[in-house]
Amino acid sequence: MGDNEYKEIPGGLFISFEGIDYCGKSTQVKLLSSKLSHDGYGIVVVREPGGTEISEQIRAVLLDNANIKMAPEAELLLYEASRAQLTRQLIIPGKDAGKVVLCDRYFDSTTAYQGYGRGLDLDSINKMNLLASCGIKPDMTFLFDLPAEAAQARFSSVPLFKDRLEEEKIDFHRRVRNGYLKIAELERERFKVIDAEDDIDNIAEKIFTEVKKRF
Ligand SMILES: Nc1ncnc2c1ncn2[C@@H]1O[C@H](COP(=O)(O)OP(=O)(O)OP(=O)(O)O)[C@@H](O)[C@H]1O
Ligand SMILES: [Mg+2]
Repeated sequence: MGDNEYKEIPGGLFISFEGIDYCGKSTQVKLLSSKLSHDGYGIVVVREPGGTEISEQIRAVLLDNANIKMAPEAELLLYEASRAQLTRQLIIPGKDAGKVVLCDRYFDSTTAYQGYGRGLDLDSINKMNLLASCGIKPDMTFLFDLPAEAAQARFSSVPLFKDRLEEEKIDFHRRVRNGYLKIAELERERFKVIDAEDDIDNIAEKIFTEVKKRF
């Protein structure tokens, strides 16, 4: 095979990776992408929010600490705007070219964070997710399930300092985690729930096995 040739999958394969911060999404996207490209598949790797020039500009607005006053509804719409651009510009063309599209977060993140986390109306979110994803849905979604406390332990070796704000933050992540589990329960066919406290290589092996079933 030449450089531009790859094993085409009819209709492509769209896989999303979900879970709270530090659950291990990016680690596994990287491992899966190198296994698949080693096996000769065409790969598109994207992250949300971002992934295209326009989407990265929206990401910068979303993540800018100066924008602390952003209304939750404005935040929701910016995520959807970034997603719509990414979907049209990279995800749909990647699928059409018969590639495996690996997406580090997709619309389930919005349902979990803005819906279950921030408490915005779930029906409205579902409608906006539908619009922004331009009629497509991940073929498979890996949810890395991790308790909020375990996630916190991954980024802070300092013992938990539980003032009111810390407690609020951890509570937010608990709601997001439970929200993800509810979403997965509603779509058991699409979701594979992974114990994120398992060993990195074991998780990678499980994911690879699940993905290979689709070829
Ligand atoms: N299964 C695992 N067990 C223990 N540590 C892990 C595991 N997977 C990832 N880590 C570690 O946890 C940290 C966060 O991992 P990673 O960046 O992949 O998470 P993420 O879900 O992409 O986070 P974010 O949402 O913040 O981008 C890293 O230091 C990584 O090495
Ligand atoms: Mg990441």
